[in-house]
Amino acid sequence: MNQTMLDLACTAMAAAYAPYSKFQVGAVVKGANGKLYAGCNVENAAYPEGWCAETSAIAAMVADGETHIAEVTVVSPGAALVTPCGGCRQRLREFADDATLVHLCGAEGVRRTVTLGELLPLSFGPEALR
Ligand code: THU
Repeated sequence: MNQTMLDLACTAMAAAYAPYSKFQVGAVVKGANGKLYAGCNVENAAYPEGWCAETSAIAAMVADGETHIAEVTVVSPGAALVTPCGGCRQRLREFADDATLVHLCGAEGVRRTVTLGELLPLSFGPEALR
């Protein structure tokens, strides 16, 4: 992960709409095309209708015509390590594979790098339906 990817994720984190949890998250997915797509969490007064930063970043990538994720960065506030929720792990899996690196960051930098396979072992993916 390079500084540009982290900077984009931090900018998205600062723009996150999280008035209820007050927990702003930013994410960037790098497409196979090399482009970076940022997203933030967007909450809703009807709580379950909110969505995560990773989901926003995936949507930006797909809207640009890219459907392969090469690398993922997630940045969150606070000192704790934040990992993608279960739903986002599955959404990432749609466009990435077990070896795809997921960088878990704070604004200061990478706290831990894991693979998507570690986050979602024995996963079900699109190839199962081909
Ligand atoms: N959240 C994310 O956007 N990504 C994560 O990886 C973890 C959690 C959001 C969802 C919700 O808006 C807030 O953080 C608190 O759960």
